[in-house]
Amino acid sequence: MNRLNKTAVVTGISSGIGLALTKKLLNEGYNVIGTTRSGVLKELSHPDLQIIALEATDRQSSQQAVERILTLTGGIDLLINNAGAAPDVFAVEPEYQSFTQTLNTNITGAVFFTEPLLEHINEGGQIIFISSNMGLPENAAPNGPGYRLSKAAINMYAAMLATRLADSSIRVMPVHPGWVQTKLGGDQAPLTPEQSAEGIYQGILTGTQSGKLWDITAAVN
Ligand SMILES: NC(=O)c1ccc[n+]([C@@H]2O[C@H](COP(=O)([O-])OP(=O)(O)OC[C@H]3O[C@@H](n4cnc5c(N)ncnc54)[C@H](OP(=O)(O)O)[C@@H]3O)[C@@H](O)[C@H]2O)c1
Repeated sequence: MNRLNKTAVVTGISSGIGLALTKKLLNEGYNVIGTTRSGVLKELSHPDLQIIALEATDRQSSQQAVERILTLTGGIDLLINNAGAAPDVFAVEPEYQSFTQTLNTNITGAVFFTEPLLEHINEGGQIIFISSNMGLPENAAPNGPGYRLSKAAINMYAAMLATRLADSSIRVMPVHPGWVQTKLGGDQAPLTPEQSAEGIYQGILTGTQSGKLWDITAAVN
């Protein structure tokens, strides 16, 4: 039995930030429902961790994941949309395949996974989007067309959702997790996934303004 009696749903926990965040939340006493594409996670097993399958670009997979989550929990305290892809981050010209894969994963997948879960977020709960400061207009640059647009879109969705939920006690937090040593971030990144997870957790505790981007680099540097 978990110590907090609180449930977190985290997408994309097979590696990187999602895996580190899952370990952090388990340490803090959360019950975690994590998603991987295969529905299996070899790297970690814990009595308070349940793994379910989610392919974010597949509508049926997303619907089945939501159904499965609702059989496992009566209410969600933290919904963390972390799964993401960045296949065009070094490209300048949009290329159809990588562009649509990125948007399907990072924005369409996140929106249509979140929407059916909204009514199951507990009072005082939080909806978190692992976004990026690459999606901020002031950080516009030629590279990563699909990636930058997807993160700009998720920042806007988070801000919109915050206005929709303004009369509730549910907070929405888009997050810049820093530049992190992961499959997506590469080896040169200055932050470990554990440092990033710690910064995200500080945002969860801090009570940031709903809908505003939480930049963890301000918290961990
Ligand atoms: N690393 C950075 O510097 C950085 C900076 C800013 C923002 N972010 C964001 O942080 C989040 C986590 O990324 P990461 O850096 O931890 O990279 P990562 O290690 O590559 O993790 C990405 C996770 O997303 C999953 N995923 C990718 N495409 C998916 C799909 N179509 N359906 C379901 N799951 C999918 C991956 O699953 P598989 O293992 O099956 O591919 C993996 O579990 C992403 O949203 C990313 O944009 C990262």
